[in-house]
Amino acid sequence: MKRAHKFDVIVIGAGGSGMMAALYAKKNPNVSVAVITKLYPTRSHTGAAQGGVAAALGNVHEDNPKWHAFDTVKGGDYLVDQDVAHMFTKETINSVLDLEHMGLPFSRTEDGKIAQRKFGGHTSEFGKAPVERACYAADRIGHLILHVLHQQTVKENVQFYNEFYVLDIILDDGIAKGVVAYELATGELHVFHSKSIVIAGGGKGRMFKTSSNALSVTGDLRSIVYRRGIPLEDPEFFQFHPTGLANVGILLTEGARGEGGILRNGSGERFMERYAPSMKDLAPRDMIARAMYLEIREGRGAGPDKDYIHLDLTHIDAEIIEKRLPDIVEFARIYLGVDPLTELVPVHPTAHFAMGGIPTTIDTNVIIDSDNTIVPGLYAAGEVACASLHGANRLGTNSLAELVVFGRLAGGAAAEYAATAKYSDLPDNVTKFAQNLLDTAQNGPRKERVSDIRKELQETMQVNASVFRTAELLSKQVEIVKDLQKRYKGIGVEDDNKLFNTELMEAIELGFLLDNAEALVVAALNREESRGAHSREDFPERNDDEWLKHTLVYKTDSAPRIEYKPVVLGYFEPKPRVY
Ligand code: FUM
Repeated sequence: MKRAHKFDVIVIGAGGSGMMAALYAKKNPNVSVAVITKLYPTRSHTGAAQGGVAAALGNVHEDNPKWHAFDTVKGGDYLVDQDVAHMFTKETINSVLDLEHMGLPFSRTEDGKIAQRKFGGHTSEFGKAPVERACYAADRIGHLILHVLHQQTVKENVQFYNEFYVLDIILDDGIAKGVVAYELATGELHVFHSKSIVIAGGGKGRMFKTSSNALSVTGDLRSIVYRRGIPLEDPEFFQFHPTGLANVGILLTEGARGEGGILRNGSGERFMERYAPSMKDLAPRDMIARAMYLEIREGRGAGPDKDYIHLDLTHIDAEIIEKRLPDIVEFARIYLGVDPLTELVPVHPTAHFAMGGIPTTIDTNVIIDSDNTIVPGLYAAGEVACASLHGANRLGTNSLAELVVFGRLAGGAAAEYAATAKYSDLPDNVTKFAQNLLDTAQNGPRKERVSDIRKELQETMQVNASVFRTAELLSKQVEIVKDLQKRYKGIGVEDDNKLFNTELMEAIELGFLLDNAEALVVAALNREESRGAHSREDFPERNDDEWLKHTLVYKTDSAPRIEYKPVVLGYFEPKPRVY
């Protein structure tokens, strides 16, 4: 059965960017707004963010949005669009104050201001010294942002469709016209007719074996638009966060190093002094993750198999740790049986964040090519989007800031567009694309198991396409992904129940993950240089002459097609990246 709905603005996703977009769209009295989300809103993955949200408030030491812009551009290895970085670093100050006014319980300085701590790559005076820029609430800022925004959306009577799984975004005649979603509680398909759509669907980290990402982070919306002819921008750049709990992947915030934590190898050496003599343990994540891999690879890891690194917090005042980092202390105790107050914590890089995504303009309109041709009525914000803010490597705490800055922009822009646009007619057979997805999963031959294909994808992506890459490994992975895509056609869901059929949902998620893996490995093989999180051992240098450009990957019936988009340069000249 099909159910029909009509809203001027549809927001897909109820994490930080989705709820911020909904709130700001709802401020326009002339439009109706609904949020469609695969999870209950407060279970969204924004809730897992720990250490802080970046804003140059200068509450602890002098700070300036220009310094923040410089750090963002340098941290992103100069692949950042500099107009975006400048706009963002100014706007995040307003957005953080906005969160404060909504009631977010930030930690406080002694004189009552929002407390700020150091984070990797954030400096004062264009690289002179680390600066306190991460506005924090102990180590649960993401959780609090999510709850504050949810309270605000409920207060504003935003209509939510919770546990609705979006299977299609209707793009017809080059215009965004609506959404098709599967209601998990009933198994019914719903058609949402709309004038504008904000895509706020998060990351894709579950394509790797060890990840800080929730199980739900499967790149669904990226894949849907990719199949619909919109390219994915810079998918090769994927960030590994240095401190995942070893063998588990759960995040231990970089805020721990912001509070003075030190990474040590198996012999107790503070090895980051060799790799980043000035910033040491507060160098950007890509550099630290590589250094950790190298230490382990060269036999200097910790533990019986020398396969992890130690995070040392034992020298920090216990009261400070318990007050500012209570959650990660619990995580280490619960998952590894290690007490960070007195013992070294085993850590290993964990798949964390996608720098690339659905390409957008600076003001969140989705674009389809290097001429910045927009899709009228279609917007994207947050991790799912690529406004080219993070370039080749994101700085910690810039993601929560991105959610609130770009979520607000997208909500405002989508509402403004919808206020004057007319509803366009929906195409005939509007659920065809979504129904095909369901049919593939439900009526397939059951020759292959979803869990086997997913396991193989995650294990091989981890080995062949994670922190260090070569043509040999990536070529192998391109073939593996192709083969898994073929095998995917042989799946078949055994559970034919209509109510909360999570087996069916996981099967569809796997198809989406495979698309994302395809785009990542093809783009990574194509980019013959090392930049930010993309480290090619066969091309170890950054090559600005040939590669200072964004990748756009298009899905075709045969192999993905690659085009390029220029980087918006400006005030900061690309320079070698020394920390
Ligand atoms: O380390 C962290 O707390 C993560 C923050 C981020 O990814 O921005």
